[in-house]
Amino acid sequence: MIKFDFKTYSKSFIKEEDYNELYNKKNEMIEKLNNCDMIGWMKPIAPELVERIKKCAKKIKDNYDCLVVIGIGGSFLGSYSFSKMFQKYFDDKSFSVIYAGTTLSSKYLDELQRHLEKKNFCINVISKSGSTMETTIAYQVLKELLKRKYSDEELKNRIIVTTDKSTGKLHEEAMVNNYQTFEIPEDIGGRYSFLTPAHLLPLALNYNIDEIVEGYFEGNRLMDIAYEYAVTRKLLFDQGKVVENFCVYEENMSAFTEWLKQLFGETEGKNGVGIFPTSTIHTRDLHSLGQFVQEGNKILFETFIKITNSDSFVEYNKQELHRINNIVLDSVVKAHFSGGVPCLEIEMTELDIENVSSLIYFFMLSAAFSALLFNVNPFNQPGVEVYKKEVKQALENR
Ligand code: PA5
Repeated sequence: MIKFDFKTYSKSFIKEEDYNELYNKKNEMIEKLNNCDMIGWMKPIAPELVERIKKCAKKIKDNYDCLVVIGIGGSFLGSYSFSKMFQKYFDDKSFSVIYAGTTLSSKYLDELQRHLEKKNFCINVISKSGSTMETTIAYQVLKELLKRKYSDEELKNRIIVTTDKSTGKLHEEAMVNNYQTFEIPEDIGGRYSFLTPAHLLPLALNYNIDEIVEGYFEGNRLMDIAYEYAVTRKLLFDQGKVVENFCVYEENMSAFTEWLKQLFGETEGKNGVGIFPTSTIHTRDLHSLGQFVQEGNKILFETFIKITNSDSFVEYNKQELHRINNIVLDSVVKAHFSGGVPCLEIEMTELDIENVSSLIYFFMLSAAFSALLFNVNPFNQPGVEVYKKEVKQALENR
C-alpha cells in the first residue's frame, strides 16, 4: 500500500483558493495528457512481448555469467535504479548485470574491459535514437572486445539491440548483422520507457517482471493523487520554492532519486521554468546539506519517501533500528517544516516490487501533469542537444 500526505506540512504555504482553482483544472489536464502523442507508456503492454522478454532473459542466464547493459538517461536509469533498490547490499550470488555507457571515463571502460576479458558475457545496447554519443562509444569498444573473443556467428547470440523499430544507426546495424532486437515504441520517450524492453529485459534477469507489470498498472488508480502532487508542487514553486529535494532513508534508494531527478528535470525544465530536482540520502546528508535545508536560503521544498516496514531486523537499545530510522524521518519533517521548508510525504508499507512499480507510474503521471501545468511539453528535451552540438563542433575542429 502507498499513502500520500501532501497537505499536513505544506498547506500553510499555499492559499486555499489558489489550490482549488488549479485542482479544478484536473479534468482539463487529464484530457490534455490523453491528447498528447507520446503516451504509449499509459497503454497496456502485450503479454506476448512480456513472454518474449522472459524467454530472452532465461537464455541469457542459461548461457552467460553477465549482461552488460549499455545506455544513458532514460535508456538506463529505470532498470538501474529499480535493481539497485532491490539488490542485497552484500551479495555475490545473483547474475551480474553491469551498466556502461553513462560515462566517458577511460578508467571505467578500461577496467570494465579487463574485467570482462575473463567473463562469459553478452551485451544489451539500448538507445531509442541509436546515435547517443556515450552509448555508441561504450558499445563500439565492448563490441570490439566481443569480436576479439568470439566469431561473427557468436556475436548474433551475444548482442541484443533495443532501439527504434525502423530508424537509426543501431537499427540499421542490427538488421545488417542479424542481431536480436527489441523495440522502444515510437510513442514512448526515454524517461517514460520503464515498461518497455529497454528496462524489462535487464530487470527480467533478476526479477519477476509479471509483478512489475502488475504493480505498474496498479498505479493507474493513483491518477487523482498524482495530479494533486503536481498541483502542490506548482503552487509551492509559485511561492518561490523552486527546488524540490527528494529525501530517502535507505542508501539503496539513492539511484531511485537519480531516476526522479532525470524524470522531473527533463520533463519540466524548459522555457525558463521548472522545479530543480535534487536529493539527499538520510541520515548521511543530514550531516551535510541538512544545515542548508534547515537554515539556508528558503528556495526548497522536500518530498520524503518513507518505508513503514522492513524485513530486516536489528535491535538497538531494545528498539528496532528501522523504527528509529522512521522516528528520525518524522522528526526531520517537523524540524525542516519549522525552518520554513514545506514537506510532502509518500509512505509505502513495504519496499516491494509491486509498490515501487506503482510509484514509478505515479511519478511519471505527476511529472507529465506538472509539465502541462507549467505549460511546457512533457515529452521533449531540446536543451540536451545544445551540448551535443558543441561537442560535435569541438571534435570536428580538432
Ligand atoms: O528521457 C529521454 O528521452 C533521454 O534521457 C534519453 O533517454 C537519453 O538521452 C538517451 O537517448 P537514446 O535512448 O536515444 O540513446
